[in-house]
Amino acid sequence: MTVTQGFLDGKIFHIVSGTARSLGVRAFVIGGYVRDCFLGRPSKDIDIVVEGSGIELAEAIGEKLHANVSVFRNFGTAMLKYKGVEVEFVGARKESYRYDSRKPIIENGTLEDDQKRRDFTINAMAFSLQEEDYGALVDPFGGIRDLAAGIIRTPLDPDVTYSDDPLRMIRAVRFATKLSDGDRKFTIVPESLESMRRNRGRLEILSKERIADELNKILVCPRPSIGFSLLEQTGLLEYILPQLCRLKGTESVDGRGHKENFSHTLEVLDNVAAAEIKDIAGCRLNDYEYENGVPVSKPRTEPCVWLRWAALLHDIGKPATKRYDAKSGWTFHGHEVVGARMVPKIFKSLKMPLNEKMKYVEKLVLLHLRPIALVTEEVTDSAVRRLLFDAGDDIDDLMLLCNADITSKNPRKVEKLRHNFDIVRQKLVEVEAKDAIRNFKNPITGEYIMELYGIPPCREIGELKETVKNAILDGIIDNDFGEADRLMRQRASEMGLVPVRKDR
Ligand code: CTP
Repeated sequence: MTVTQGFLDGKIFHIVSGTARSLGVRAFVIGGYVRDCFLGRPSKDIDIVVEGSGIELAEAIGEKLHANVSVFRNFGTAMLKYKGVEVEFVGARKESYRYDSRKPIIENGTLEDDQKRRDFTINAMAFSLQEEDYGALVDPFGGIRDLAAGIIRTPLDPDVTYSDDPLRMIRAVRFATKLSDGDRKFTIVPESLESMRRNRGRLEILSKERIADELNKILVCPRPSIGFSLLEQTGLLEYILPQLCRLKGTESVDGRGHKENFSHTLEVLDNVAAAEIKDIAGCRLNDYEYENGVPVSKPRTEPCVWLRWAALLHDIGKPATKRYDAKSGWTFHGHEVVGARMVPKIFKSLKMPLNEKMKYVEKLVLLHLRPIALVTEEVTDSAVRRLLFDAGDDIDDLMLLCNADITSKNPRKVEKLRHNFDIVRQKLVEVEAKDAIRNFKNPITGEYIMELYGIPPCREIGELKETVKNAILDGIIDNDFGEADRLMRQRASEMGLVPVRKDR
């Protein structure tokens, strides 16, 4: 028996231990907390499994600590927060987990019954909280061995484990992606991969929200390509994001081929992740918002899942726009426009938010070629102003994505593009400092025009504002009220508009 030192020093573990003893039940720490202790990773939450009622134990502890306990009777679980840490209690189960079930779950198993019904051996390890062997590792399926070898394996026949909850197939991919780092690689055992291939159709029974949640967690990993390659290899991707599978493969005509767009997409995704990690390292720690455990907003102290979505979907319009022309070879003209239009459909199919997050992804997909287009053309101030205007506050993310999109195999080409790209970046800084376009607000408002000419809302107002905006972006006038007003009045008089008061 391995007795682990130090992992259960926290006061909460002693409270759980003492309360369980007074209730006459055995309790164990199980799952991610145990795994992460051995990996030396900080763990957010603690899962406690009880040979008895998890809800009763949680309620007794809640009373002792004067803490609120949330009870989920349908799932047979209860949760309380202790010093910012979520502690979840569940009764040991003999039968398979029913994560989507609305029927109450019967808690009638031993620890080992419960362990073998869990997803992976590395997640089935437990620490005893009994006084006589406090901290002992209970590991009947060799989780510690698999953890050391970087192996993801199910405790039972994978067909059984995956049919208990098919989401575990995507969870296997998520753990392989999340736990692999620089010198440690986690792989899914071959029989599990085969089972995933066989059972991929079972994903149909899952709610889209649960699938999207897992995808988000894969996306924010340091090397998300590991996950998406696995999803593709096992055939799961075809069920989740078939549009992404269409990016696979190359064609060749007259000996001329084109980029393999699936692997290119994954490379861009990893590049974005690497660039974000660099940004984050240089960032001051700040409060960050979470949605379902996934960080979502700026400033960057954590990866932004929506930027990762933009990277994943940036070329999604390529298959629909692919053409071969004897003169110019393979082209994907307009793929950014087609791709941007696909974003809402994809978000809808996965029941993801159709709000400003989706709009952000749509915008980045639409604009992802623009900075590079500036590189190949002459970088004029007005082109830079237009780019700043269209990207607004998302200009930094757009530039990050665009830089990540430079993936040629030819190092000379990459170097040249990067050099030109730096010129555009510099120019953006200069133009923004001079003209403040990023948060552009038209100096001429609709209300001002209506009041001046005594007119109701009408098409002319839009036209006048557009004239002013274009003149500022094209550098014809400065971003200044006086100049804008003069131009607007001139154009209004050409339209036959006359100020209502003579003194104005
Ligand atoms: N579990 C399971 N099958 C699932 C979901 C969860 O067997 N479909 C079990 C695993 O033992 C897992 C534990 O419940 O370790 C807690 O689940 P969860 O919080 O989702 O994962 P963690 O392992 O804690 O990992 P992370 O915090 O990284 O999500």
